[in-house]
Amino acid sequence: MDKHHVKVMISEEDVNKRIREIGEAITKDYAGKSVHLVCVLKGGSFFMCELAKRIDLNVSLDFMSVSSYGAGTKSSGVVRIVKDLDEPLEGKDVIVVEDIIDSGRTLSYLMALLKDRHPASLKLCTLLDKPDRRVVDVDVDYTGFKIPDAFVVGYGLDYDQVYRNLPYIGEVVFDPE
Ligand code: IMP
Ligand code: MG
Repeated sequence: MDKHHVKVMISEEDVNKRIREIGEAITKDYAGKSVHLVCVLKGGSFFMCELAKRIDLNVSLDFMSVSSYGAGTKSSGVVRIVKDLDEPLEGKDVIVVEDIIDSGRTLSYLMALLKDRHPASLKLCTLLDKPDRRVVDVDVDYTGFKIPDAFVVGYGLDYDQVYRNLPYIGEVVFDPE
């Protein structure tokens, strides 16, 4: 890791408040139904746990892990399933829970793949969105925060696998030599 420090971008209080609001919106939108949350590991895990606690419906959970083919930081958009879901999606009201949408390549591929499994409905919920970085269009149904093009960590997001446990969203600021 290059020399850097982490600056608070969105405080713990603001993140939690926003997750509570999304939980309330989902509770209203799915009234009378059950929701099946699909967490994209590892980044989506902190957000999903916090969100699930704020949904006042019957909630079931499943997890999947994907890695994108492609060199370095550029994802090709072709996703390899590292860990698939345990349960079929057929007939379920599914919400995919992701940490951040950047180019949109991973999620557009993943949503198409999950749609083929015939859920009753399929929506996408992301904690963060960097719209300026979008290369491939993705329909996002629930967004926590739209943020500028910065490298962020915390609340599940990592820099070289570190900082996922920060209870706030931090911006990685690289220090001059
Ligand atoms: P994309 O939308 O296919 O470009 O990829 C999104 C994935 O890239 C996310 O699920 C994250 O794992 C990772 N990512 C994108 N931006 C950031 C960031 O600012 N911090 C940490 N991980 C990021
Ligand atoms: Mg991710």
